[in-house]
Amino acid sequence: MGYNLLKGKRGIIFGALNSSSIAWKVAEHAVAEGAEIVLTNTPVSLRMGEINHLAEVCNAPVIAADATSVEDLESLIDQAMEHFGGKIDFVLHSVGMSPNVRKSIPYQQLNYTFLDKTLDISALSFHKLMQVLYNKQAMNEWGSIVALSYLAAQRTFVGYGDMADAKALLESIARSFGSIFGKEFKVRVNTISQSPTPTTAGMGVAGMDSMLRFADAMSPLGNASAEECADYCVTLFSDLTRKVTMQNLYHDGGFSSMGLSEEAFNLLAK
Ligand SMILES: NC(=O)c1ccc[n+]([C@@H]2O[C@H](COP(=O)([O-])OP(=O)(O)OC[C@H]3O[C@@H](n4cnc5c(N)ncnc54)[C@H](O)[C@@H]3O)[C@@H](O)[C@H]2O)c1
Repeated sequence: MGYNLLKGKRGIIFGALNSSSIAWKVAEHAVAEGAEIVLTNTPVSLRMGEINHLAEVCNAPVIAADATSVEDLESLIDQAMEHFGGKIDFVLHSVGMSPNVRKSIPYQQLNYTFLDKTLDISALSFHKLMQVLYNKQAMNEWGSIVALSYLAAQRTFVGYGDMADAKALLESIARSFGSIFGKEFKVRVNTISQSPTPTTAGMGVAGMDSMLRFADAMSPLGNASAEECADYCVTLFSDLTRKVTMQNLYHDGGFSSMGLSEEAFNLLAK
């Protein structure tokens, strides 16, 4: 159901790789709510071609950018503003990758070259993006910048490795830059801490199937899906949440406040 919550708003969406991606759903929901969008991802992921289907449905240009490259980000923001004919109202950073997790390297044996990559792709890219937006004064007043995080920033989850450190840094960057964007531009910056979700990045975490079942059993409302995350993103892009900023917002069916549920207990007792 559409409420026209984003009518007249223009945004950039990072990270739609395929139809399982959280960003893919956010793009569809944002457009259904009246937004105009620009899609972006790495040149390699664009070559896979799936994003072109989304671009067609959303009537959106696709602009290649590696989120770790300031040069790419500068060119992306310039092209997006040219396309929109003005400034930007919302941005979704839905970007994450850890070579250590991908190669199942345990936390106590981290490869530090890979760790640099994990932090650069999954956290510093958010700083770089906001620095470019700041320097170009690219955001409209009462705009909204959102990145996706995970509870491993606060609590330890087996298999999540150095992504936990990246998410902690990502959330800290949201607060630090949020204070600057709020004061200078009346722009809000938040992270959404999402349930485990069966996407390409999600399924790259060892034992994800079990984690999905466990989290679902622990959460009073069940796991939040990618579609539901998209709905939440839309509210944060809309004018209905203008004074929400510098927050890490849990979108996890209640998981983060639970100790042990009957369903999870029964699952473990089996
Ligand atoms: N899936 C989950 O369980 C889950 C839970 C909480 C948070 N998140 C977060 O949600 C976000 C989106 O992940 P997803 O689950 O939709 O998986 P996904 O694999 O569909 O999306 C990850 C995206 O990151 C992009 N990416 C990787 N390196 C990049 C770079 N250098 N520059 C630009 N883009 C790059 C990939 O191309 C891909 O589109 C990530 O930040 C992830 O950590 C996921």
